[in-house]
Amino acid sequence: MQLPLQLPLQLLNPLKLVTGLGLAAFVSLSSLSGCAVAQPAKPTVVILATGGTIAGAGASAVNSATYAAAKVPVDKLLAGLPELASVANVRGEQVFQIASESFTNDNLVKLGKRVSALVKQPDVDGIVVTHGTDTLEETAYFLNLVVRTSKPIVVVGSMRPGTALSADGALNLFDAVSVAASKDAGGKGVLVTMNDEINSGRDVVKLVNIKTEAFKSQWGPLGMIVEGNNYWFRAPVKRHTAQSEFNIDDFDVLPAVEIVYGYGNMPRSAVDLFGNAGVKALIHAGTGNGSVADRNVAALQEVRAKGIQVIRSSRVPAGFVLRNAEQPDDKYDWVVAHDLNPQKARILAAVALTRGVDSKELQRIFWQY
Ligand code: DGL
Repeated sequence: MQLPLQLPLQLLNPLKLVTGLGLAAFVSLSSLSGCAVAQPAKPTVVILATGGTIAGAGASAVNSATYAAAKVPVDKLLAGLPELASVANVRGEQVFQIASESFTNDNLVKLGKRVSALVKQPDVDGIVVTHGTDTLEETAYFLNLVVRTSKPIVVVGSMRPGTALSADGALNLFDAVSVAASKDAGGKGVLVTMNDEINSGRDVVKLVNIKTEAFKSQWGPLGMIVEGNNYWFRAPVKRHTAQSEFNIDDFDVLPAVEIVYGYGNMPRSAVDLFGNAGVKALIHAGTGNGSVADRNVAALQEVRAKGIQVIRSSRVPAGFVLRNAEQPDDKYDWVVAHDLNPQKARILAAVALTRGVDSKELQRIFWQY
């Protein structure tokens, strides 16, 4: 149907055209000029679902904190969010269906290999990983270290199940897909979209365990995502993804790296236990600036003497551990975790030790990643 071209300009507004002339008369503006204008093809985003609260379900709408995680399959998550089609062509894969506190090194490796395989496919423009929030920061950092790509990879979760009043999962997932479909999100490392913020997978930590504004980076978010638009304010300076020296395609197993937690009255037994358990590195989550109780200095020196790397981190959520301050790291041949919390230090140490580095190289890696 050809409309008279002398239509008043305001009717050329598609919305007014629909309301003014009725849906039956609606024609796309592209046909008014008599030549079809091809719509740009939408980016393709693959959603890898692993479980967590974003796939959770509670008994009633008022259960925002009491629910079962890892219940809703990825196809139902996508079916419940038709708005995704406005930003990308999406398809989902159910990689796992677990609460993220139950993640293992093998889960990390399997997920990393799947992400690596997908980003190599020319028809895939971005990846979203839906994940429980408990260990989301560890998985995001792991992917940041080992997936060699400049395509956007976005990890997302939610603090409330989709069955709850004011559930946050739908908007978090929409934001994640929108960012993963954005060219300007490429080359920034693995990203985490939660609560309207875009954070670096390296920096972000779960700082609050009971509200939707749960994830924070002590160095601030990289940007915000609002109504499908990205607003960037800074970019990462640490090495990641395409600039990483590590590659998930080069290993199948992560070396054992464990953590001991520092506190008043901490006995040396935990250090001794791991020292005799065949670990390749031990993270000491010290008090303050990575402090070590005097009775545990000897225990950690014995661990180091067995060829196990000793890495000083801190239980304090912000700041960074200064080398040779609380302990003579040069003298003891220990490594400091810089600003990485103990759980992220574990991830970096395990990835680094897939290449069998010595303590000098390990410290260089902690400065750079
Ligand atoms: N069990 C927790 C997890 O899967 C629930 C927390 C969440 O996903 O928000 O990480």
